[in-house]
Amino acid sequence: PVPRPSPPSSPVLSKVHTSAPDTKAAIDRSIPEFPAATPIDEDNYFRLHKSPPYLSQISSDVADFLNFHNKRHRKVALVTSGGTTVPLENNTVRFIDNFSAGTRGASSAEYFLENGYAVIFLHREFSLLPYSRHYSHTGNSFLDYLKLSDDGSKVEIDDKYQKEMFQVYKKYNKATKNNLLLMVPFTTVHQYLFTLKLVAQEMSVMGYDALFYLAAAVSDFFLPSSRIPQHKIQSKEIGSKLVVDLEPVPKFLRRLVDSWAPIAMIVSFKLETDNTILISKARGALKRYNHQLVIGNLLQTRKKKVVFVTPAGERWIELTPDQIKDNVDIESIIVPEIIKLHSQWISSRQRMGL
Ligand code: PMT
Repeated sequence: PVPRPSPPSSPVLSKVHTSAPDTKAAIDRSIPEFPAATPIDEDNYFRLHKSPPYLSQISSDVADFLNFHNKRHRKVALVTSGGTTVPLENNTVRFIDNFSAGTRGASSAEYFLENGYAVIFLHREFSLLPYSRHYSHTGNSFLDYLKLSDDGSKVEIDDKYQKEMFQVYKKYNKATKNNLLLMVPFTTVHQYLFTLKLVAQEMSVMGYDALFYLAAAVSDFFLPSSRIPQHKIQSKEIGSKLVVDLEPVPKFLRRLVDSWAPIAMIVSFKLETDNTILISKARGALKRYNHQLVIGNLLQTRKKKVVFVTPAGERWIELTPDQIKDNVDIESIIVPEIIKLHSQWISSRQRMGL
């Protein structure tokens, strides 16, 4: 058998892994019962849950990355991407998940990079990543992009894919060689919230040059640590039904806007499945959190159209039939629009002498 070489170390993949549960922190009955979230209870979440053990490593990676780009006066976008999980057991066998594959986040990160931003990519571990997304999670195996060389002695990229892969690889190489992309993973909603808070606070060194682009699909309900069983739930012990009693996840966006990142530009997404409530819900979020832009999208049509909701009004962005045929990413239109708004936001703050 051919010996298997160890996989190459990736210049972008984080050394931190979030998909394995923190089994040492099993159920801790000394933690007080988690109160139901009310607008003034957001801080309870951070007070009553332990922070993930790897956070200090992420903190130093993020600080180095931000200092590097701050010195070069480069704008930085924090792009969140993918779905968060809600574990039902501490040694996690079962968890609640959502549909998001991270397409919006991964493709948006590419367009921020192409437009001169550095990107912190806060993503669900093993969801789609910028650049490699073109070759993963598709119906094909990555092996389908390869072929045997003419003399049969090596594998090489199939001629059919050479041109496109060359372009994608050049962009990936530029991003990694220039330290423009920092990957930060999460798996659970708990990891996501703690990491978002940490990164948001570190981002304050960037002032107005920081942009938050919150495309992750964040769980609305969770099981507090005070109630998570340590081991796999046994059907014998619970009888015939598993009844799950979840608490609402506090709406952390308010803390982000008011306290963690008060001078950055913040763009959030609003996902609905019923088109009759999309705009009112997006407008409600804008009023409630008082940030700069909510992008509304429907689960069914999210890859073809979105609506920008700002205090000034609404504007739909929709792919044309030709663009759909040509596989244009809607993010290639969304991101340059946001970059324009970010520049206007910076100028308006500067004019106000803030
Ligand atoms: O990954 P894809 O398949 O490409 O899908 C992309 C997407 C549909 C996931 C993306 O475009 C999107 O809409 N992301 C936001 C999904 C979401 O969480 O929507 P929501 O309506 O539940 O929440 C609205 C906002 O409130 C979000 O910005 C979220 O960050 C925030 N929120 C959510 C939960 C919570 N407890 N607190 C919050 O502040």
